Amino acid sequence: MRLAIVGATGAVGHELLSVLEKSSLKFDELLLYASPRSAGSTLKFKGQDLTVQVTPEGAIPADVILASAGGSVSKALAPAWVAGGATVIDNSSAFRYDDSVPLVIPEVNGEAALKHQGIIANPNCTTAIAAVVVWPLHQRFSVKRMIVSTYQATSGAGAKGMEELETQTHMVLHGKEAQASVFAHPIPFNVIPHIDSFQDNGYTKEEMKVAWETQKIFGDPNLIISCTAVRIPTMRTHSEAITLEFERPATPDEARELLRAAPGVEVRDDPAANLYPMPLTASGKYDVEVGRIRASLAFEGGLELFVSGDQLLKGAALNAVQIAEYLQEKGALKEKALS
Ligand code: A2P
Repeated sequence: MRLAIVGATGAVGHELLSVLEKSSLKFDELLLYASPRSAGSTLKFKGQDLTVQVTPEGAIPADVILASAGGSVSKALAPAWVAGGATVIDNSSAFRYDDSVPLVIPEVNGEAALKHQGIIANPNCTTAIAAVVVWPLHQRFSVKRMIVSTYQATSGAGAKGMEELETQTHMVLHGKEAQASVFAHPIPFNVIPHIDSFQDNGYTKEEMKVAWETQKIFGDPNLIISCTAVRIPTMRTHSEAITLEFERPATPDEARELLRAAPGVEVRDDPAANLYPMPLTASGKYDVEVGRIRASLAFEGGLELFVSGDQLLKGAALNAVQIAEYLQEKGALKEKALS
């Protein structure tokens, strides 16, 4: 089985390499692609230097392609990769809302991946982190309404976002004025309630992604979801405050018990000991942390939660590799791509 990463030199590409080193996924060859800027550079994988190649215009000689070079690259090139026989697991938003493309979180709707027609979409990072926690609660209590406020790290904007936070923080601390480039405003010592473009309804696209994608992954178009997405000056890991209204009343104890048994979730909920989810503890962790679980004052029988999840991992690289592992476990990875 030949595996390729497109966008190997980026923030998610870097995490893909590290997740693959620890993964149970069996493959014989790993090919790395990026833009012409990175051609000929090398990246380490299991102690070996692998050379980065320019992403070709046409087919890629791999059976599975993990694509993480942005929506425009995927949109332009993925059809040719599929025509060449590859299965594409795409991190971008290019195909997420296409009815013929499954949008998959293995813990939630892994079986949807088996129905793919060449492309499987990986959800938006904010969606994935919330969904892995809300899904077990939805199954037991049936979510009616979900209200989300996010605290999103600069890594959501890729390596460039993290770099901007670091360099601009240095500048501000040395009395220089920071000029925003990746973000709409300077990010150091600021919070910016603007991620992705504004839509006609006043929400941003990032906020609408959480609604559209959660409905698709849960298979429930009637779920009412409202999100406010905010960029904060942290390096990596997104946090979210989530309010849930249910069809059937839930208690915090029932929720904790369910979530302790849920795959991909770590309950970190002992406020008396100052124990709750934070980017500081959730960064680099595969599981999404959940805590501050309490009865909602807004909805009778509802719950309030706080989650922190490494969005480069569960929100991107880890989920993509887990989809490939799932397909391999189910014997659903074909090895017939062009060489
Ligand atoms: P490069 O490093 O050569 O620019 P991030 O999300 O961290 O910004 O990373 C984006 C990834 O996508 C990088 O690996 C980047 O490569 C790659 N990339 C950007 N544009 C293209 C392109 N036109 N073709 C192939 N890869 C691209």
